[in-house]
Amino acid sequence: MKKAPLFAALDDEAATALQQSMTSSRLERGDILFHEGDQGDRLYVIREGKIKLGRTSSDGRENLLAILGPGEMFGELSLFDPGPRTATATAVAETQLIGLGHDNLQAFLTDRPEVAATLLAALARRLRRTNETLADLVFTDVPGRVAKALLDLSSRFGRPAEEGILVAHDLTQEELAQLVGASRETVNKALADFATRGWIKLEARAVILIDVERLKRRAR
Ligand code: CMP
Repeated sequence: MKKAPLFAALDDEAATALQQSMTSSRLERGDILFHEGDQGDRLYVIREGKIKLGRTSSDGRENLLAILGPGEMFGELSLFDPGPRTATATAVAETQLIGLGHDNLQAFLTDRPEVAATLLAALARRLRRTNETLADLVFTDVPGRVAKALLDLSSRFGRPAEEGILVAHDLTQEELAQLVGASRETVNKALADFATRGWIKLEARAVILIDVERLKRRAR
């Protein structure tokens, strides 16, 4: 938790004080924390597990903005820029969160301006990442985007395993396709192709990255 943007600038005492003003919650896979369009009064930091942030188009199709894991923060947009939630937050695994209400956050930011700087840095990082995703949607083909998504998931959820890096992403093939922004068929084809080449091994809701260098080259 100490690495989470909200806590990074704090000493142990201040971090403990902040944590005491936060509430804990626990979600099972599939539980929805809030819906796009809801009024928001709280931001969250993930203690354990994974949250998907998704949006639904007017014809019912879903797109995933991000999959977030331990230490990552979400739900702050509707606090800094009051308005409805910009995405639906759903647990994709058993998840533990801590939440901080708007009033507590405001009071805390006034007392501790250094926290504001780390939150701004987190927002800036997200904008950078979003710009990159946008460019990929325009300039990169689906297999390239699949390779990128696997490497990104691996940087956050990967663990060394016998054959390579085990990435237990907890996503269904449909969710993976929504994250990449392509049809399930096209994404499956890219995954099957990578598997045939020996770059990855597919498992249920997980993938083992065997040849990271080749994936990196394909992602460029
Ligand atoms: P909020 O709008 O309150 O609720 C949905 C949250 O999703 C939002 O705050 C952000 O924290 C998060 N979010 C929105 N867009 C993105 C994005 N492009 N990448 C990662 N997280 C996002």
